[in-house]
Amino acid sequence: MRHFAIVGVLIALLTPAVYYGISASNVMPIQASLQALPVDWMWNMDAAAMAFLFCLIMVPLVYSLAVFRRRKGDLEDADHIEGNTKLEVTWTIIPLLVVSAFAYLGAYTLGETRIVAPDALEIRVTGLQWDWRFEYPQGFSSNELHLPVNQQVVLRMESLDVIHSFWVPEFRIKQDVLPGRVTEYRITPIRVGEYKVRCAEMCGTSHSYMERPVIVSSMADYDAWVSDQAAAAAALLAQGGPESGKALVSQNGCLACHSPDGTLLTGPTWRGLFGSTVELSDGTTTVADEAYLRASIVDPGSQTVLGFPPGIMPQYSLTEAQVTDIVSYLLTLK
Ligand code: CUA
Repeated sequence: MRHFAIVGVLIALLTPAVYYGISASNVMPIQASLQALPVDWMWNMDAAAMAFLFCLIMVPLVYSLAVFRRRKGDLEDADHIEGNTKLEVTWTIIPLLVVSAFAYLGAYTLGETRIVAPDALEIRVTGLQWDWRFEYPQGFSSNELHLPVNQQVVLRMESLDVIHSFWVPEFRIKQDVLPGRVTEYRITPIRVGEYKVRCAEMCGTSHSYMERPVIVSSMADYDAWVSDQAAAAAALLAQGGPESGKALVSQNGCLACHSPDGTLLTGPTWRGLFGSTVELSDGTTTVADEAYLRASIVDPGSQTVLGFPPGIMPQYSLTEAQVTDIVSYLLTLK
């Protein structure tokens, strides 16, 4: 009985110490969203349970090793123990209750992170190999995600190709981005600052570079940025031509695979492309004239350049005028 008492006291003393050690390691980034609060609360509950279970196993183990060592000259066999029904029932029922309690807490926390604000701002997110694109309700898109502080935002997300995962560690929530299905991500930023969205699903060669800035600012700064962007986008499109095309290839993430300067990426470079002779994967050759460039944008599967894998380039929804602008931009890179 004395041994049980000593072990019990040691567990009671060491559990808070281990919990403190886990908390002090500061593994969590700052809390930048309302949704981070319940997630961190849940994490702390888990850490407390982990600290207790760790001590519950390690203390009796180490205690037994130290106290019940075989004495010098003791050559007797140990007691033979057949089993203990009471003990087995206890160590089945208690963990069952604990796991059920944590399942409830987990579901409750998940619910807390998904509370819908009726006035949530909506932004469309597109994930593609290997970039992010954000479309704002004011009719422009950007490679930066700007969010106003203390306002819930719902991101409606879709992938153009494979499965990606939208993850801003400071917001805590992580959500897969799937081709052919829109997933939802609700977040209420509570801290002005600059963060980064990264892709948390292995999605190919440049997965680790699939990052874009996330900027949380005051509502006034956000509104100012939005009206600037909307005006700039409208002006550029109205103007048309190569400058508009240049903006479009940047907005649509084309530069993730095609370089304008001759650098070899996943797709053919645009430098010197116009007017050159292109070898296709079906063995034929063709001249990269305007019709070829246009067809390659509108229907990427129609002609694959030799040496590049087919089916990588997604089909973009662009207007006729936008395609014309992009082609006119490509002409300037010859
Ligand atoms: Cu997209 Cu990893």
